[in-house]
Amino acid sequence: MRVINTIHGLRAYLSSIREQRMTVGLVPTMGAFHEGHLALMRRSLENGDCTIVSLFVNPTQFGPKEDFEKYPRDFNRDSQLAADLGVHALFAPPASEMYPEGFQTNISLPKISSRYEGEIRPGHFDGVATVCAKLFNLVQPQRAYFGQKDYQQCVLIQRMVSDLNFNMEIVPVPTVREPDGLAMSSRNAFLSPEERTVAPDLYLALRQAAELAEQRERSAAAIKERAIHLLSEEPTIKVDYIEVADAESLEPCDLVDRSTVILGAIRLGSTRLIDNILLK
Ligand code: PAF
Repeated sequence: MRVINTIHGLRAYLSSIREQRMTVGLVPTMGAFHEGHLALMRRSLENGDCTIVSLFVNPTQFGPKEDFEKYPRDFNRDSQLAADLGVHALFAPPASEMYPEGFQTNISLPKISSRYEGEIRPGHFDGVATVCAKLFNLVQPQRAYFGQKDYQQCVLIQRMVSDLNFNMEIVPVPTVREPDGLAMSSRNAFLSPEERTVAPDLYLALRQAAELAEQRERSAAAIKERAIHLLSEEPTIKVDYIEVADAESLEPCDLVDRSTVILGAIRLGSTRLIDNILLK
C-alpha cells in the first residue's frame, strides 16, 4: 500500500492509475478504524480497481468545545489494517496541506445543516462538506463510500455532489454493529465500562420505535414517544433528539406515509452517540 502525505504525491499517483485506466473508489475517514470503516473499504475493493482511503482528522468539523484534541489517533494500526485488506493507497495529509495559509473557502448546505447534528454542532457540516469537496476534487473518484450510521452526513454529501455536479456516485454502506446492537463508532472508545453497558439502549429504543411503525402505527409522535420513553428509564442517558424525518429531505414528518428515517442522538457522560433506522 502506498502512503501519500502531499497533494503533489497524490496527483502523481493518480495520474499513473489513470494511465492504467483503473477505476478509483474513495473512502474518506478520520482514522481510528473499526469494522465500519473496514466494511467501506471492502465494498470499494469489491467495486473498483483502485481504492484510496483518506485519513485526515479534519479540524474544521470540530467545534471549539469538541473532542478534536482527544479524537483517537493510531496511524500505525490504521495503516496496517488498510494494507492487510488490500487498500491501494492511504492519503494522510497534515492539516497544513489541506488548509494552507490564506485558505478561506467554505461550502455550506444551510437547510440540511440547520437540524439535528447541525443544530447541536454549529459549523460541523460546513467542515464536512468543504473537506469532502476538496477530497472529491483531488481524487475525482468514480465512487465514494460513506457509512449510514452518519445518515445526515450521507444526505448532505449526496446533495452537495448533485448541486456541484461532481461526476461520481455516493455509495451509502449499512451500519456495522457490535453483537449487542451498538453502532460501531470511533467515539465508542471514550465510553467508560458502565456507559458501554448502557450505550446499546439507543439502538434498542430506535428498534422498538421502528417495530411500532412496522405494526402500522402512522403517527410520528407516537413512534418517537416509544423511543423517548425507553431512553428516559435510564438516568445516565440524556436525549439530544429523537426525530422521524423524510428519508431524503430530512424534514420532520407528522405521519409515516413514505420512506422515513428515525434519527436519534444521546449523551452518555461526555460522549455523544448517534444512530438511525430507515423505515421503508
Ligand atoms: O465521517 C467521517 O469520518 C468524516 O466526517 C469525514 C467524512 C471523513 C469527513 O472528514
